[in-house]
Amino acid sequence: MATIFKSLIFFFVVATLLHAGHARRRKDNAASVVHDVTEYGAAPSNRDNRDAFLAAWRAACSSSAAGNNSTTLLVPKGTFAVGAVQFEGPCTDNGGAPVVVIDGVLQPCSGDGGGCHISHDAWITFSGLNNLLVTGDGTLDGQGHHQSGKAKPMTTTLVFDGVTNSTLRGLRFVNSRGFHVNLRRCTHVVAEGLDIHAPATSRNTDGVHVGVSSHVRILDSVIGTGDDCVSIGPGSTDVVVSGVTCGPGHGLSVGSLGKDAGERDVRGLIVKNCTVKGTTNGVRIKTWPGSPPSRASNITFQDIAMDDVTNPIIIDQRYCPHDHCSDAGEPSLVQISDVTFRRIEGTSSGPMAVRLLCSEERPCTGVSLDGIDLTCGDAPCRFEFSNVQGPVAPVVVEQAPGPAPALVSGGRREEDADVASGTEQLGWLTWWLPFTVRG
Ligand SMILES: *[C@@H]1O[C@H](CO)[C@@H](O)[C@H](O)[C@H]1NC(C)=O
Ligand SMILES: *[C@@H]1O[C@H](CO)[C@@H](O)[C@H](O)[C@H]1NC(C)=O
Ligand SMILES: *[C@@H]1O[C@H](CO)[C@@H](O)[C@H](O)[C@H]1NC(C)=O
Ligand SMILES: *[C@@H]1O[C@H](CO)[C@@H](O)[C@H](O)[C@H]1NC(C)=O
Ligand SMILES: *[C@@H]1O[C@H](CO)[C@@H](O)[C@H](O)[C@H]1NC(C)=O
Repeated sequence: MATIFKSLIFFFVVATLLHAGHARRRKDNAASVVHDVTEYGAAPSNRDNRDAFLAAWRAACSSSAAGNNSTTLLVPKGTFAVGAVQFEGPCTDNGGAPVVVIDGVLQPCSGDGGGCHISHDAWITFSGLNNLLVTGDGTLDGQGHHQSGKAKPMTTTLVFDGVTNSTLRGLRFVNSRGFHVNLRRCTHVVAEGLDIHAPATSRNTDGVHVGVSSHVRILDSVIGTGDDCVSIGPGSTDVVVSGVTCGPGHGLSVGSLGKDAGERDVRGLIVKNCTVKGTTNGVRIKTWPGSPPSRASNITFQDIAMDDVTNPIIIDQRYCPHDHCSDAGEPSLVQISDVTFRRIEGTSSGPMAVRLLCSEERPCTGVSLDGIDLTCGDAPCRFEFSNVQGPVAPVVVEQAPGPAPALVSGGRREEDADVASGTEQLGWLTWWLPFTVRG
C-alpha cells in the first residue's frame, strides 16, 4: 500500500514538473518568438527600413527556435519604405526558417534618400531557405506606375531563390516594376491565395513566374497584370496551376522558351480549373524564333473557362513580342510534344479560336484537342494549324458550309504537306469552321 501511495505521489510530482516545464517552455517561446521589425528600429515612413528589416531577420533566422513555425518575423500594419533587401538562409541546422508575416504595406523607398536603391533585378528576395512560410494580410506595392524616365528597371517584387518545402500565402501584390513573383531554383513550393494587380498596359509585369524549379503549385489566386498572369519558364518540371482567375493580361503561358542557349527542358505541367477573362491570350506556349534546341513536353491545359479572350488556345513558335527579333526568320528548335487541351469553353473575342503555329524544323507532336467549346461572336470560329504532326486528336468538327479548309494568303509560304508514316503534317492552313469542336 505504502509503495502504491509513494508511486502515486511520485507520479503526480513528475507530472506537475513536466507540465510546468512544458508551459514555461511554451511561454518562453511565445515571448521570444515574434521579431517585430519595429523593435529593430523600423518605422512606418519614407525612409529606408532595410537595415531594421535585416536586423530582425538575422535575429529570427539565427534563433534556435527557427523552424517548426515557432519563430516569426513580423512586419506589422503601417506603410514601410524599404530598399532592395535579401533575406538569406540557411537559418538552422534542422533546415528550418522563420515564418514571415507581412501585415503592413511595403513600398520601395523613393530613391533620393541616402543610399536607398531598388534598381536591382529584385526588390525583396528570400534565398537558400527550407520550410519557409511567407504570409500575412499585407501588400507589396512596387509603385511601378510612378516610375518615370526611359530606362525603367524591371525589378521583380518578390523572389524565392533556391527555396524548398515552402509556402507563399495570401499576400497582395500591386504595380510591380517587373514580375510580381519569381520562383527560381525552387523545389516543393506552393504559392496560394495571392492577389496580384497591375495595369493592363504595364510591360513585363508577369504575375507569377516559375523557372528552373520543380514540384511547384500555384493555387487559388486572382491575377491581373500587363503581361502573363502565370509564366512557366525554362527548367520547370512538375508544375500545377489551379484555381487561378486571370485578367487582364496575356494569359497563362508556358515560356517564353528558347531565348537563351543551354535552357533546360520543361515537362510535366498541368494548368487546370482556371478562368481567363479579357486577356490577349488564354492558354499559350511560346518559343522564340531561332531558339536553340530544348524540349517542352507533357503539358496539359484542362477545365479552363475563357471569357472574351483574343487567342484562347495558342502555340506560337515565332514569339517575338516587340518585333525586334534579329532571327525572326529562323525556326525555333524547341521541340513541343504531348500537349493536351481538354474541356476549354467560353468566348473568344478574336476570330481565331485555336492557333497551333509550330516550328517547321521541330513540328509539334502528340497535340490533342478534346472538348473544346468556344464561340467567336457572330462569326464562326477559325483554326490555324501549322507544322503540327498529327494526329491532332480527337478533333471532331461539324463542317461549315463554305470555304474550308482554305489557304492563308499573305507573306508566308505554304508548307509541304509532308506525310510521314502513320502521321500527317498539317501545312499552313486556316480552317473556317463553326466552332463547336467536341472530342
Ligand atoms: C522541430 O521539431 C523537431 C521534431 O518535432 C525537433 O526534432 C526539432 O528539434 C525542432 N526544432 C526546433 C528548432 O525547435
Ligand atoms: C509550418 O507551416 C506551414 C504552413 O502552414 C506548414 O505547411 C508546415 O508543415 C509547417 N511546418 C512545420 C515544421 O510545422
Ligand atoms: C524537403 O522535404 C522533403 C520531404 O518532404 C525532404 O526529403 C527534403 O530533404 C526537404 N528538403 C530540404 C532541403 O530539407
Ligand atoms: C476551382 O477554382 C476555384 C477558384 O477559382 C475554387 O474555388 C474551386 O474550389 C476550384 N475547384 C476545384 C475542383 O479545384
Ligand atoms: C506528366 O506530368 C504529370 C505532372 O507532373 C505527371 O504526374 C505525369 O506522370 C507525367 N506523365 C508522363 C508520361 O511523364
